Amino acid sequence: MFFKKKNPIGLDIGSNYIKAFQLSTTKTGHELAFAAMLPLPPETIVEGAITDKDKLVASLKELMKKSGVKSGDVVAGVSGHSSVIIKKITIPVMSESELATSIRYEAEQYIPFDISDVNLDFQILGNKAGEEGQMDVVLVAVKKNVISDYIEVIERAGLEPVIVDVDSFALNNMYEANYDITGNKNVALVNIGASKTNINILQGGLPIFTRDSAIGGNLHTESLERTLDISREDAERIKKGQAVEGVSPVDAQAALNTASDEIYTEIYRSFEYFRSSVGEEDVSEILLSGGTVMMKDFPSMMAGRLGMQVEVVDPFRNIRISEKLDAAYIKEIAPVVAVSVGLALRREGDRE
Ligand SMILES: Nc1ncnc2c1ncn2[C@@H]1O[C@H](COP(=O)(O)OP(=O)(O)OP(=O)(O)O)[C@@H](O)[C@H]1O
Ligand SMILES: [Mg+2]
Repeated sequence: MFFKKKNPIGLDIGSNYIKAFQLSTTKTGHELAFAAMLPLPPETIVEGAITDKDKLVASLKELMKKSGVKSGDVVAGVSGHSSVIIKKITIPVMSESELATSIRYEAEQYIPFDISDVNLDFQILGNKAGEEGQMDVVLVAVKKNVISDYIEVIERAGLEPVIVDVDSFALNNMYEANYDITGNKNVALVNIGASKTNINILQGGLPIFTRDSAIGGNLHTESLERTLDISREDAERIKKGQAVEGVSPVDAQAALNTASDEIYTEIYRSFEYFRSSVGEEDVSEILLSGGTVMMKDFPSMMAGRLGMQVEVVDPFRNIRISEKLDAAYIKEIAPVVAVSVGLALRREGDRE
């Protein structure tokens, strides 16, 4: 329809599933117009980096064919601690354009990669409370080769990459579009995928702490495979609550709990690190996303273990789902698509 604004496709290339989502925007808000997901063959993406480009191009083409989309602008997301570094730094107050010219110099001491190997970006958060003449800035560095690999596969699949965003910021966008930001409370957006966990702590809606860890739902799959001596496929079935012949549910639960505990501990440690690096701040609420949080009792066990309020995010609180799509199914898998919805919310001309 001519009055609907066409948005780019939000493409979340996860190591487990690739997801492509597109919104249409009208005067009355956003509507999910298009959604497609496809499992990726194992070892195509490792630690946020593409290890098998040909396989990924083939999967992207298949996803597009399945969905009937032939071309289009794409906003893709990257994450993973070996690809992306996000740091909050404090520097002397300066204008956006001044910082743009000196960012490379400022960043050098904070980035553990060679500065010539990364693309840099920043967001000025504002003057630092209690420190005259200083301001807080979020610094983002993404490895150039990771970005160029993503651009290459997207182009080879016949699509047009317009923005390469960072998964944590996409989650931020998704959160802003769906939740009211009240007061200055600290909300942790925690996205637990198959191979990684993105933690993004927001204060009054602004990112003040971001960390990617290399653990996720693969831990559960591996724990089941190892302790029960079963195949990966059977392990995936058990994770989704399906029965597998010859496997005792009690043994399966024990193997799953071991893996969940490891994830809770890692998240707890990140929060401890946040507390010590930011001062006496604490996290007041956790909003979970990612496929792993769909595992039965994962969120409630986490709440018990961390002694915190834990909720699963709803990316469709303020976004309608088109009548052409299977709304019940999309709502069921909502945690898996939180990042793609956030990517789909980005527009050309937004800050990159
Ligand atoms: N219904 C479900 N119940 C339990 N686990 C599930 C369910 N659906 C997906 N998972 C698990 O969630 C993980 C995939 O989640 P997600 O799609 O968020 O990861 P990804 O984005 O592909 O991976 P990553 O970002 O870590 O590279 C897998 O480990 C999968 O087994
Ligand atoms: Mg993911």
